[in-house]
Amino acid sequence: MPLVDTFGRKINYLRLSVTDRCNYRCLYCMPEDGVIKVCHHDILSYEELLLLARTVVPLGIEKIRVTGGEPLVRSGIIPFLKDLSQIPELKQLVLTTNASLLEGMAAELKNAGVQRLNISLDSLCPENFSDITRGGDLSKVLSGIRRAEEVGFPIKINVVAMRGFNDHEFLDFADLTTNKPYAIRFIEYMPTQRDTAWESRVISGEEILARIADKYCLQPVVRGEMAGPSRDYKIPGALGTVGVITPVSGHFCQDCNRIRVTSQGMVKNCLFSDTEVDLKPYLRAGNVPALQEILKKIVTEKPGNHLISNKETSHQPFSMSKVGG
Ligand code: GTP
Ligand code: 5AD
Ligand code: SF4
Repeated sequence: MPLVDTFGRKINYLRLSVTDRCNYRCLYCMPEDGVIKVCHHDILSYEELLLLARTVVPLGIEKIRVTGGEPLVRSGIIPFLKDLSQIPELKQLVLTTNASLLEGMAAELKNAGVQRLNISLDSLCPENFSDITRGGDLSKVLSGIRRAEEVGFPIKINVVAMRGFNDHEFLDFADLTTNKPYAIRFIEYMPTQRDTAWESRVISGEEILARIADKYCLQPVVRGEMAGPSRDYKIPGALGTVGVITPVSGHFCQDCNRIRVTSQGMVKNCLFSDTEVDLKPYLRAGNVPALQEILKKIVTEKPGNHLISNKETSHQPFSMSKVGG
């Protein structure tokens, strides 16, 4: 029986965070001195993560996206991904990474059965990149992307659009798609930390597209099966696409097909939901029937939409590195 919520949405996508640690400190994601270190015991072991994956796939989960923090900083990640990829009935195993360690790991990731990579890259200018990530080295990321392409990965790039930080670079990203087969997606900045000035930082998907349309004609791309929230366009003759993900201005909640599990085993039925259920006790007891019941229940309780723009009913602040985007 597939997981279907009370709004009739089929839940077939799990975003699974394997660590809250990261070698970057992106301005919008983490405080400068990092997040408080979580005790090793509180993080799901690979065995527990695998048990979880093997439990959700028979419930109808067809796609697992492994996230972090930065998933490639967790040791033992490659054999874990290989085990995940061998779960019968799992159609898609994909990963989101900052690409800083990709040059040395791309071939292993491919051999482990990872099908696609989404890469977080907010600037193409070395100084700006270093400022936004608080010390990241753009050249490493670009070599990582090159290597990933060489070993045959299709590349999607996530750019968190922030007024005053990288909005002068939107056209550079669009230019890149003219000769590279990348799917570049601009994501509206979301107020995960509830910073007071968040609204002035948000640039709507509409504005982003309008700025690109000043230089280029944009043709809508037909959405594929299991497509995510991105609305994509092509510049005529370009090898890649540009798209926008609009969690703030235009809700895509009515098509939401996902649940999330944090590296500490907390299941979330919406990115902005304050309610989390701890799966650790069930995973640690190896209690698969109870785990299945909890997962079905959390799907039943999935809200129809999030309320991030509603000031009266806003969510508790959270760190994206804990949830994995
Ligand atoms: P693919 O379609 O497989 O490429 O995946 P995706 O677009 O679901 O994955 P990705 O991790 O690249 O998502 C891009 C970003 O969009 C996420 O990291 C979030 O920042 C944002 N996003 C994705 N899903 C949701 C969602 O359900 N709610 C909100 N508010 N934002 C989301
Ligand atoms: N707003 C929008 N996107 C964000 N991400 C992290 N924090 C935010 C935010 N506040 C994106 C990252 C990454 C993905 C996991 O989530 O860029 O691509
Ligand atoms: Fe690390 Fe990604 Fe957060 Fe940046 S956005 S600090 S790369 S987890």
